[in-house]
This record gives sequence, structure tokens and C-alpha cells, in this order.
Amino acid sequence: MINNCSPIHVLQITDLHLKADPAALWRGHNVQQSLDAVLERARQHQHWPPQVILVTGDIVDDETAEGYRQTYHRLANQLREQLGNAASTTKIGFIPGNHDDSSILEESVKSLKLFGCGSFALNNWQIIQLDSSLMDSDDGELGEQQLAVLDSALSSPQAPNSLIVLHHPLVKLNSAWMDSMRVKDAAALFSRVDTFNTLGGQQVRAITWGHAHQETELAHGQVRLFGTPAAGPVQFTAGSDDFAIDTNLAAGFRWLTLQPNGQIDTQVFRV
Ligand SMILES: [Fe+2]
Repeated sequence: MINNCSPIHVLQITDLHLKADPAALWRGHNVQQSLDAVLERARQHQHWPPQVILVTGDIVDDETAEGYRQTYHRLANQLREQLGNAASTTKIGFIPGNHDDSSILEESVKSLKLFGCGSFALNNWQIIQLDSSLMDSDDGELGEQQLAVLDSALSSPQAPNSLIVLHHPLVKLNSAWMDSMRVKDAAALFSRVDTFNTLGGQQVRAITWGHAHQETELAHGQVRLFGTPAAGPVQFTAGSDDFAIDTNLAAGFRWLTLQPNGQIDTQVFRV
């Protein structure tokens, strides 16, 4: 493993719920304009451009296969336009959420030269992207295949620190309707993280997700757990047992600075 002492700046955007029609509304708000405002705000961050952009599911929420395909392409183009000269070096990850079409997403990731599920490394960090989506269900589950991806990344780490990224929350958020969709086999993920963290060689430092359209920060032992608000125009009410929208909260994103010693500085910003 190469030791590299530069911090990595990461922008996480999630739950964009983009439609093929850029004029589409969600509960009266323009979906594309919500993302535009989020990116405008992210561009004001002192560390823009980030070295990594993680788009963590519910990227597109459309009706047709062609709509999905076009919209994944439109988003990748928009991100690269905003990155300007950095577009050739910034790594962009797309992972599916419950509203995505995971096979069209996977095709688009390949044709657009993005990073999909699996792991990649940068400086002292490896980023492990997992697919927690299930066909025809809003629930989260990793399953044997994604757990094998995790095993392989943790058993042959490309860097001493890991950040795991997935769409669904791994733990309860004190919200019955949301908690029913959390990753069913989260215990299998945590047991692997605990085992590999105890063995040494690498440390999983944090796990970040979307799906809940709300900001959270929790912990599993020493591992920090982050939930990031939606870049789309609808935020869910934290701590509500039934579906509820918090109209007081604006769209947002998370900025993470991954330090070479394994520490993470992170903050949520809203538009
Ligand atoms: Fe969502």
C-alpha cells in the first residue's frame, strides 16, 4: 500500500430523483433546478473541485428505459461541465437506489466511464460502493454478491482507510416507515467491518448513505455513520413514524474531507 499524505475532498449528492423531462415537478418544485442549486452551492465550497463525487442512489426516477438512460447521461455531462478542467481527474461514482433502474445504471456507468459498485482507491483511502437496491422493492439488502464485493475490498485493501457508500440506511432512524426499508442484512456488513477492523491492515472509518432524505450522524463503535439529505426538492421529516415531508428544509449535500490519517471532516450544506 502506498502512503500518500494529501487529503481527499469528496462531494456526496444523493436522492436527486431526476426525470427525463427537465421541467418535471415533484410536489410543485422543479427537480432539475433543485440539483442545479445544490451544485451551485457546492461550487462555492473552498475545496471545489472535489477529487471524488459520489452520487448515492435515487439518481433517476423516470417511467421509461430511454428516460433513465438519457438522464444518467445528462447528469454525468452536467457534473463534468461543472468540474471544468478537473473533469478528467475527478472520479465520479454512481450507485443505484430503489428508484433507479440498476441494469441501465450499470450500462451507463460503463459507457460514461464512471465508477459503479466495487472499490477504487485514491491516496490513503479506498472507497467501497455497494448496491443495496432490490428489484421491484423499496427495501434495502446487500445479499451474498455485494457482501463478497465488501469482503474482497477489505481482505485486499488498496489503502489503509476505507469509506463505505450505499443507498439505504444500515440502522434504525427512529422512523417506522423508513426503518422498515433499512438494509435487512446490515448485521452481516457490520460483522465483516468489525472483523477486518480488528485484524488491522486497514480500518473502515465511515459509512455514508442517502434514501432517508435527512441528515444524520450516528456511530457503530468507532465507525461513523452518515446520512445525507436529498439533492432533490423533498426532505423527509426526521423521527416521524409515518411518511411526512419537512417543508422547512431545503435540498442539500454532504462535503467530506478524508484526511490521510483516517480522520474525516464532514458537513452538510443546504441551498
Ligand atoms: Fe430517494
